[in-house]
Parts: sequence; structure tokens; C-alpha cells
Amino acid sequence: MSHVLVRDEGAVRVITMNRPEKKNALTQEMYHSIAGALDSATGDKAIRCIVIAGQPGAFTAGNDLADFMAAGSSGERQEFGTSGGATLLHALLRNPKPLVAAVDGVAVGIGTTMMFHCDYVVATKASMFATPFVGLGLVPEGASSLLMPRALGHQKAFEILVMGRRIDGEAAHHAGFVNQVAAPGQAEADALTVAQEIAALPPEAVAISKRLMRLPPEQVAERFALEGKHFGEQMRSPEALSAFKGFLDRKRA
Ligand code: COA
Repeated sequence: MSHVLVRDEGAVRVITMNRPEKKNALTQEMYHSIAGALDSATGDKAIRCIVIAGQPGAFTAGNDLADFMAAGSSGERQEFGTSGGATLLHALLRNPKPLVAAVDGVAVGIGTTMMFHCDYVVATKASMFATPFVGLGLVPEGASSLLMPRALGHQKAFEILVMGRRIDGEAAHHAGFVNQVAAPGQAEADALTVAQEIAALPPEAVAISKRLMRLPPEQVAERFALEGKHFGEQMRSPEALSAFKGFLDRKRA
């Protein structure tokens, strides 16, 4: 069974992460599958909006930490820019179609970073957003050090991005990056309704407006690259390797 499911419902492409037994932790293969489904929609005039969804209980628990551990201890310098995570985030960044996220559960690390590249976010109250990068010895990714303070203000972004505080769907709605709080189990259905509403709008006008509303792509790409340089260096740091090991060993303790 594939860990990423893709279906088109009329003019809406729905991309579903499907590795519930690991809380949708993202492998390299999953990143590339999602990026492929995003990219192939770009030139497809029949697709007017894209929904990215997880499973009840898990949008995604972020990068697979066993993969991080393997990459960090390989002895090779890791460039974040060539990783699966960066491939996915770049695919979100360059996608001209409106992106709607449906979150019903944990959205950790890149799961939260992705929100800042989406145009509309639906989440249940029980959802949990967290960016534990710093606690793992890492740094923000995907230009979130630029986009999150811009969206939430510096202090709120510091609390989430640096201190790693977790927030639920309602708090995220209050903070401003969740548009709509869905009833339990309804995130994907509500996201689909929103996506159909967007898909019914004139597509050229939507595409131009989306482009105008976003920061210049060069500015975002520059921050992306700078974070990637630090991220790659930190991946091999003793503090990061010790944190990955701590997570992977926790159930054996
Ligand atoms: N990488 C690899 N495996 C992961 C994972 C990750 N990021 N997140 C969860 N899993 C696995 C767990 O190891 C467990 O597998 P097992 O049943 O084979 O032991 C399974 O998914 C279920 O996770 P569990 O921790 O039991 O679920 P939970 O509901 O108690 O907690 C989380 C969910 C997301 C809060 C917790 O799993 C967690 O903190 N994960 C790490 C998140 C993270 O740091 N991501 C990287 C960000 S940069």
C-alpha cells in the first residue's frame, strides 16, 4: 500500500499522506511522491485547487527521525537543499494553484512548516502543531523563520519556532494560521468544500492574486537556502545526534 494517495475530485486534487502506523512520519519516498503530485497539477488546467490531508490523528509527525539519524551519522555533509523535505517545500512554494491543508491530529516539524506555504488551513481542535527543531538541535526550515514571524508576529513565532511550544487547532486559529476549526473527523470534508469554492472562482484571477499576495519568491528562496545551510550543519552536531537517539531509544528505556 502506497504511503501517499492521490485522487482528483472534479477540479480538486486531494493528496493524502497514508502511513498512519508511524503517524505519517515522512520518508524520502513520501516527500518525492507528494512533490510529484503537486508538480503534475501545476500544468494541468483541469486542476484548480489542491488539498493536502493526513489521517484522523495525524497530519504528519514530521520527518522520519530514523532517516534523520541515518543522514546525520553518515559522516557526509548533508545539504538540506537536496533533501526530500526541501523538495516538498520547494514544490509547495512554486505551486501556482491554491493549496488547502486538512489537519486532524499531529502536525509536527515540516507538518507545521507546510502550513505557511498553504493558502487556507482547516484543522480540528484536537490537532497539535509543533516545531521541535531547536529541541532536536536543529533550526527552522522552509523559510519558516521568515514566514512565521510575518504571519504571527515575532513573540508568538518565537514561542512556537524556538521554544517548541505545542498549540492546538483552536489556538492556531487564534494565532492566525488556521482559517477554520472543523468538527472532529470533518477536516478533510470541510477542506474539500472550501477547495470546491476556490475551484469555482476564475482561475487566472486566482493565480495572479495568489502570486501578488506572496512575498517575492527570491526573498523566500534566499531564506530557505540560509536556513538549509545551518540545518545541514546542525544535523551532524552532537546535540542533534543525541536528540535523535533519545527519541529512537525512548521506547526501549
Ligand atoms: N519518525 C519516525 N517514527 C515516528 C515519528 C517520526 N518523526 N513520529 C512517530 N513515529 C512512530 C513512533 O516511533 C511509533 O512507532 P512504533 O509504534 O513502531 O514505536 C509510532 O510512530 C507512533 O508514535 P507514538 O510516539 O507512539 O505516538 P504518540 O501519539 O504518542 O505521539 C508524536 C505522537 C508525534 C507527538 C510523537 O510520536 C513524536 O513526538 N514524534 C516525533 C516528532 C518529531 O520530532 N518529528 C521531527 C520534527 S523535525
